[in-house]
Amino acid sequence: MRGDFVWGVSTSSYQIEGAVRDDGRGPSIWDTFCGQEGRIANGDTGDVACDHYRRYGEDVALMRDLGVGAYRFSLAWPRVLPDGTGAANAMGLAFYDRLIDALLAAGIAPWLCLYHWDLPQALERRGGWTVRESAAWFADYAALVARRYGDRVKRFATFNEPAVFTLFGYGVGGHAPGIRNREACLKAIHHVNLAHGAAVDVIRSTVPGASLGAIHNYQPVVAASDAPADRKAAQVFDALWNGAFPDPQLLGHYPPAIADEMLPWQQPGDLERIRRPVDWFGLNHYAPHYIKADSGSPIGCGSADPPPHLPRTGIGWTIEPDAFRETLLTVGKRYGLPVYVLENGMSAPDRVDATGAVDDPDRIAYLRSYIGALREAVAAGADVRGYFVWTLLDNFEWTWGYSQRFGLVHVDFASGRRTPKASARWYAEMIRDARGVR
Ligand code: FCB
Repeated sequence: MRGDFVWGVSTSSYQIEGAVRDDGRGPSIWDTFCGQEGRIANGDTGDVACDHYRRYGEDVALMRDLGVGAYRFSLAWPRVLPDGTGAANAMGLAFYDRLIDALLAAGIAPWLCLYHWDLPQALERRGGWTVRESAAWFADYAALVARRYGDRVKRFATFNEPAVFTLFGYGVGGHAPGIRNREACLKAIHHVNLAHGAAVDVIRSTVPGASLGAIHNYQPVVAASDAPADRKAAQVFDALWNGAFPDPQLLGHYPPAIADEMLPWQQPGDLERIRRPVDWFGLNHYAPHYIKADSGSPIGCGSADPPPHLPRTGIGWTIEPDAFRETLLTVGKRYGLPVYVLENGMSAPDRVDATGAVDDPDRIAYLRSYIGALREAVAAGADVRGYFVWTLLDNFEWTWGYSQRFGLVHVDFASGRRTPKASARWYAEMIRDARGVR
């Protein structure tokens, strides 16, 4: 491992901030979605979440105790631009000033992600990612952020997991804004790619020394059976999930399985607009996808049950560190960029015990095995430069609400009280050992 290997933690705005109506923040599509009956487990919402908007100082102190060198977080677009475009919200901008300054004072490098799914509702009303203009809205937002924070922030990611919010948000409708339509999904894919390219150019020209990338959830796709329909479905899903963003952004073309379908939304020069030079590949990885044909789905495929013998995490995702090692090697070879793992971790039903401690041996075992797989990939030649645990705090896990605890730090959602779990101590020690401090 390189001496400058980065150990970090990641979070996202909607999942932790709360304060959704405070200090001038506008509504996001997730506020709206959470307000719709039946969308989120237990009717949970991000209204309060971890109250990070107020407790960010405590959270930065928790990270300092972990000894992480970097923190990846996202900005809530509707907090800084309540209507998505137009007038900026001074109080929203000032919040991220405070956060960034606290991180720097604690010796933690801020990694700023522009978009982790909380589109301003005002922009969804204008068509959201299904309209081409969305790329220009995003570029203007990126310019504002780059001008404001570029003196202190050098690491920028454009999008977190564009495959998730386009496929689930516009294709199958399980995520905000809840649209279930194949054409909407394909348009959104193309416009998000254009937005990525435009934002890369804007940040590059505004922030001297900026280091840029996008964050992709790249996971092996396994057909549920050898039946031709399942194999075909897995191929199409692989193109949509793994290829639809990195391929045009880094190789200049859409994956063959969807290339023709993407043509109607393209204008001459689009692929050059999308393929702008970036500095690294951001990888989020949890588990392989098991996929079967599903003619009832707008994208023609659906999730299948994984082989029953595989161990699973609390949320039901399989534990397969070998797949992580292979993914690191595949992605490095295919795209030829240094890789930063910007999310990996697991949920478990963690509880504070009678002594006030939270013992989470399964998470420690998981992290040990995945970090072990990462070390193997590096030994086999993968250029991996960092690893960020998902996530610092138990938080609002999208449609699962608060039922899934992914944090290194336990959060009591009634009081907001934070309790570092045993895995937090384990991670802190691992980082110290890796740095050779002990
Ligand atoms: C990823 C998301 C992140 C979190 C983890 C568990 O897909 O980027 O916000 O939900 O999964």
